[in-house]
Amino acid sequence: MDKETAKKRIDELIKIINYHNYRYYVLASPEISDYEFDTLLRELSDLEKQFPEYLRIDSPTQRVGGEPLKEFKTVVHKYPMLSLPNTYTKGEIREFDERVKKTVGENVEYVCELKFDGVAISLTYKNKILERAVTRGDGEKGDDVTANIKTISSIPLQIEGDDIPEEFEIRGEIFMPRKGFERLNEIRLRNGEPPFANPRNATAGSLKLLSPSEVAKRPLDCFLYFLLGDNLPFNNHYDSLMAAKKWGFKISDYIAKCKSIDEIFMFIDEWEFNRKQLYFDIDGIVIKVNSFKQQAELGYTAKVPKWAIAYKYPTERASTKLLSIDFQVGRTGAVTPVANLQPVLLGGTIVKRASLYNDDIIKKLDLRIGDTVYVEKGGEIIPKITGYDSQQRPADAKPFEFIEYCPECGTKLIRSEGEAAFYCPNNLYCPPQIKAGIEHFTSRKAMDIQSLGENKIAVLLVNGIIKDVADLYDLKPSDLLGIEIKYHDDNGKIRTVKFREKTVENILQGIENSKKVPFERVLFALGIRHVGETTAKILAHKFLNIDNIINASFDKLKNTENIGETVALSIRAFFDNPKNINLINRLKNSGLQFEYKGENVESSQILKGKSFVISGNFGTPTRREEIKKLVVQNGGALQNAVSSKTNYIIAGENMGPEKLKKANEFGIPVIDEKYFLQMIES
Ligand code: IVH
Repeated sequence: MDKETAKKRIDELIKIINYHNYRYYVLASPEISDYEFDTLLRELSDLEKQFPEYLRIDSPTQRVGGEPLKEFKTVVHKYPMLSLPNTYTKGEIREFDERVKKTVGENVEYVCELKFDGVAISLTYKNKILERAVTRGDGEKGDDVTANIKTISSIPLQIEGDDIPEEFEIRGEIFMPRKGFERLNEIRLRNGEPPFANPRNATAGSLKLLSPSEVAKRPLDCFLYFLLGDNLPFNNHYDSLMAAKKWGFKISDYIAKCKSIDEIFMFIDEWEFNRKQLYFDIDGIVIKVNSFKQQAELGYTAKVPKWAIAYKYPTERASTKLLSIDFQVGRTGAVTPVANLQPVLLGGTIVKRASLYNDDIIKKLDLRIGDTVYVEKGGEIIPKITGYDSQQRPADAKPFEFIEYCPECGTKLIRSEGEAAFYCPNNLYCPPQIKAGIEHFTSRKAMDIQSLGENKIAVLLVNGIIKDVADLYDLKPSDLLGIEIKYHDDNGKIRTVKFREKTVENILQGIENSKKVPFERVLFALGIRHVGETTAKILAHKFLNIDNIINASFDKLKNTENIGETVALSIRAFFDNPKNINLINRLKNSGLQFEYKGENVESSQILKGKSFVISGNFGTPTRREEIKKLVVQNGGALQNAVSSKTNYIIAGENMGPEKLKKANEFGIPVIDEKYFLQMIES
């Protein structure tokens, strides 16, 4: 391709990709498949590599890039970043309305919006391109977090439209959708990291990360709610937001113009109820005077505008008795205290338990068994204890002492310096740790032994058939045939099922297949504290085999890029334990992969959830088998016949006419071998 054509195509691709990005992330209404989107992105990235002189800073390939920062630059805000006066009462909203009318007269229109519960951000656009993103900081100056913000797909790197000012700021709230927050916490718990208390904390913690590629993994999103600049071509707030929406910004759909206080109250009441249906947290409603002229007349105090006010919903709170505190031991040995409460109705659900996170929190709250405690459910899903009623404390209530010994195996607990959690160090023999460790080992992202679910693992452990993961590889059919699993059916009745030949065959086949799982996933499967999927990949890539990792000094590990002191300490502690070395030797003897084989297309999950039918002639019969293998190795499923559930047909020469007819009938894409290979390469 010549230079001119390349430049034209690059510009064109950026436009197309930005459009589809907008459809997907802002409007949640995509027009093309993920695969088609990725293909466009790959074409752009290839062209940019070939013609680096045409690489644009606003290119969608540049969302996640750059080296980790040492620290954030401090930037002075061009316009101070103010907060809002808060109120919890409708009476104060009435007073606000009266104050406004006293200054600007009776003819006032308000705009009511949701108050997003996240972290405020100010974005500057110059010549339609995102130039900078700065946090609120102290209101005068904040942190330049542009590289982190660029990873958020709903924030446009470039905007489109005719009436766009040359330079302007747009402010909004970065937030984490509830589902993404729950998933993030699950992963953190699995990796032995402390969970975030709520989506807002998770958002704030994510924005503070110095490595944009780590931020890119956090499910962040952003609503914008305030446009500002010199000589904006609008005379009211509502029109400015509607224009911003047209330019490509994510603006909430739930904005209402209200002419009277009753309309404002209706909006407040409606969202007090409906907010539970949203996919993100709000903590109230914001009411703003619409006209810019009236806003200017009303002006500002030192900290807040006089033309806006936030109505905060009361936190849902109940009081109940703290009956006892249980201790749960997780996979990594972390001991989490859980409060057992007298059941109480809170925000529509009955709350019986609340996590207490760690000893520091219990001490800070000064809780005692028998206390009447306050349970709150802010915007958050997990209820938490926020305090106790001192009037009702029983005279004999004793200060709470954290347990010293593991409730499951009796081992003395330890607490690493600087960490809030207590751990049971007996990771090889403590029952819940063994069980959770085996579940982790067999999980999809680790050894992927799907034929061994939670119940089956529990039965094997209880019957003493396995004691650790290495025992899995010594299992024979006779060890498993006839084992019984008892479970509760939907009516609560106990039922029994027996391991029959087919089940046993499936389990053993799954275990056998796992011997091909690449080294980086075996390393992840070992469940070393702080070694998640990414760290395992880094270690495998840098050290090439297990012996190099076992023999690496603490310093060598610590100085490996992206591996800090905590991770290095944890890796050393794991391999310094002779019992773990023994386990690895047994796994080695069973034929698991302990050598890095390089980046492999094998066993990716790129085709997960997609069903394929293969039809026609591919030159040689072995080639047809190879294609089948590639489908499965990349997470896809094979079907013999075309049905409405088929996603793709891979066609060779002389594809069967019946299959072609069905493909047309169901609108299933028929692809050739080359296209299929491109799909898995991506
Ligand atoms: S307007 C000068 N609108 O709430 C007025 N703020 O407690 C600027 N917030 O600082 C703010 N949703 O971080 C505005 N729809 C909304 C908002 C909103 C959330 C945040 C924002 C603000 C804080 C005040």
